Amino acid sequence: MKKHTLHTEFLAYTSADELPAADRALLALARQSLQNSYSPYSNFQVGAAVLLANGEMLGGANYENASYPMCICAEQSVLAATASRFPKESVVAIAVTVHNPNRPVAQPAAPCGACRQVICETEQKNKKTMRIILQGETGPVYVFEKGGDLLPLSFGGEYL
Ligand code: THU
Repeated sequence: MKKHTLHTEFLAYTSADELPAADRALLALARQSLQNSYSPYSNFQVGAAVLLANGEMLGGANYENASYPMCICAEQSVLAATASRFPKESVVAIAVTVHNPNRPVAQPAAPCGACRQVICETEQKNKKTMRIILQGETGPVYVFEKGGDLLPLSFGGEYL
């Protein structure tokens, strides 16, 4: 028996003001996009924005359904739309932010497990890792260099 340790790392910025301008712009688009959140069941608004290799930015939001398991997360919504509209373009970064009308979120938005899996799949598809920029409504911003840092030991096409 051998014990293994999985290592992950990320950068923590005190606030969005410390980010490079391109990351600030992407986070601003994510924040703007959460206004398009369709979330009548949870009231929890999530906005995501991607930066493509060609410099273009696209935003998306969560899209809920009365049949609850069919709710589409903001990250999956924007990544699927991007793959459909720009199948040849790599995603180089994704920013995610949230708004909870019941209580301000002062910690970075944490993508759910399924969204982490979709981020890893997108990286495999594009043969390009993406930076992941996470912020709540206020507070610190976390930056991960790649999906694998959020989802170590992930399942992927190499198993099939
Ligand atoms: N949600 C996201 O959009 N992204 C995540 O990573 C976590 C959760 C959405 C799904 C649902 O519409 C609402 O947040 C509450 O779970």
